[in-house]
Amino acid sequence: MAETLLEIDGVETCYGLSQVLFGLSLKVQSGEMVALMGRNGMGKTTTIRSIMGMTPARSGTIRFAGEQVRSLPSYKIAKLGIGLVPEGRQIFPNLTVYENLVAASGNRQGVSDPWTIDKIHALFPRLAERCNNMGVTLSGGEQQMLAIGRALMTNPKLLILDEATEGLAPLIRDEIWNCLSMLKGRGQSVLVIDKNVANLSKIADRHYIIERGRTVWTGTSEQLIAEPDLQHRYLGI
Ligand SMILES: Nc1ncnc2c1ncn2[C@@H]1O[C@H](COP(=O)(O)OP(=O)(O)OP(=O)(O)O)[C@@H](O)[C@H]1O
Ligand SMILES: [Mg+2]
Repeated sequence: MAETLLEIDGVETCYGLSQVLFGLSLKVQSGEMVALMGRNGMGKTTTIRSIMGMTPARSGTIRFAGEQVRSLPSYKIAKLGIGLVPEGRQIFPNLTVYENLVAASGNRQGVSDPWTIDKIHALFPRLAERCNNMGVTLSGGEQQMLAIGRALMTNPKLLILDEATEGLAPLIRDEIWNCLSMLKGRGQSVLVIDKNVANLSKIADRHYIIERGRTVWTGTSEQLIAEPDLQHRYLGI
């Protein structure tokens, strides 16, 4: 049996008086790629914010690598081994590409084959070319590559991508999907949010669909493809 890396159960999260998650549950096993899907405003980003302690959940369980993390501060949760590629990328605009990559780098889990600047440059050659450029000067696609590279440089047990390819040009999207496929081949555990169901069902092992802050469906890619009705009902496709 694979080890459970992330386990969310019965999570409720609010912004002030406005409740957004209503008992959400989700699991990621070690080495799995799991997709989190749902229409706009259904609570995907809020789920990520709850996991990371950025908008702490009001109730429920969030366990990561065997530890209850629900009431921990964000920096401690990140240090346990979660690398986040946030919605909107949020790279440091006034640092160079190189500085962005090394700013939070580390190998806290002591992995035997850690990410290095050279490996990130091999993954995204564009970042090598832009090495000394300020973050603010990068295109959207370059920013996303940098956000992924920055997260990988922390050698995370779990990589989370909130909108992996949103707003990117088709060629760049392909590059991001190829990168995810390579990471999966390396055994990297990934939780990914994206709107491209066709690509997600090619690459992810399992899927969760959420609606108004609740998990309404979970299953494998085969099951998702076999039920086109689901996509129509919950994803508006
Ligand atoms: N900071 C906030 N304060 C108050 N309400 C918020 C805040 N952020 C999000 N919400 C609300 O919470 C709900 C869920 O938002 P969330 O960003 O989690 O959705 P999402 O599934 O990530 O959507 P999208 O696909 O557009 O990224 C929405 O109704 C949104 O308006
Ligand atoms: Mg979102």
